Amino acid sequence: MLKEDKTVMLLRTDTRDQAWIDAFSVTMPELEVRLWPETGDRSEINCALLWGPPPELFDELDNLEVIFSIGAGVDSLLTCQTLPAHLPIVRMVESELTAGMVEFCLFHVLRFHRLMHLFEKHRVERRWEDLTQVPASEVTVGIMGIGVLGQALARQLSALRYQVIGYRRGPGDVDDMEVFRGVDQFETFMRRSEILVALMPSTPETKKLINCRTLSWLPPGACFINAGRGDLVDEEDLVSALDGRRLAGAALDVFKTEPLPQESPLWTHPDVYITPHIASITHPPTACRYIADVIGRHRLGEPWPHLVEIGRGY
Ligand code: GLV
Repeated sequence: MLKEDKTVMLLRTDTRDQAWIDAFSVTMPELEVRLWPETGDRSEINCALLWGPPPELFDELDNLEVIFSIGAGVDSLLTCQTLPAHLPIVRMVESELTAGMVEFCLFHVLRFHRLMHLFEKHRVERRWEDLTQVPASEVTVGIMGIGVLGQALARQLSALRYQVIGYRRGPGDVDDMEVFRGVDQFETFMRRSEILVALMPSTPETKKLINCRTLSWLPPGACFINAGRGDLVDEEDLVSALDGRRLAGAALDVFKTEPLPQESPLWTHPDVYITPHIASITHPPTACRYIADVIGRHRLGEPWPHLVEIGRGY
């Protein structure tokens, strides 16, 4: 059990160290935060908040009790060979991270549904053409990955009257949503998805789930939004699907290799929108409140919430 008087957190972020330190000093002033690689006496460290830990980070952390993931996705932790997999790993579930993801996906769903990607091209050509628009209630948005983020997106899309369907690999229903499950139902899900939103994690099972075969199942003129992980997609197949007009547009925030290599054909493809993995970023103030709440509940004897299941890969 994390001690009330001496909880020492090892922090390893990607870029925003000071924002985290400031947020913890407001939310958990009693917490001692040590910024990697300045660990001090490693035996005093009992929790860690991490993104992309180097393998040597876990050396001699003999009293580590819990690991918090900075990201919603935990692949940067699970690919670390030295990860102490017997410890609880708590996923980041915080309100601003969720809100950011919902905003990003809504923005692109609205763009594709209201044909803004086409009107943008027409403007360049000075072409005045009234394209036929359909109401949101006649557009089906398929969400791959219906965890916390996918469900939050589904609620907002439903409020805008879109038809929303969901796909997940494992079991589990979601209130008020038609859910397709497992490999058997993936084709039916894809055939219905006029706008496909990928929010799935990177696992061995999700690698290249979006490929020429599965893209061929989408309705003609479908659009694709990827805010999950880049390796869900076979990028060459995606470009072929766009070139062959099987796909009308793609908004990509994540890529097989990041930063996206200069030579990638995606950069210059006229039907692709690119953002540099910014769909949603964990916001330290709200994230620290989440961590404070989780630690507080743990001290009252409650189980750790949102635990990563190593076997399933997320
Ligand atoms: C970002 O990619 C995250 O996992 O939070």
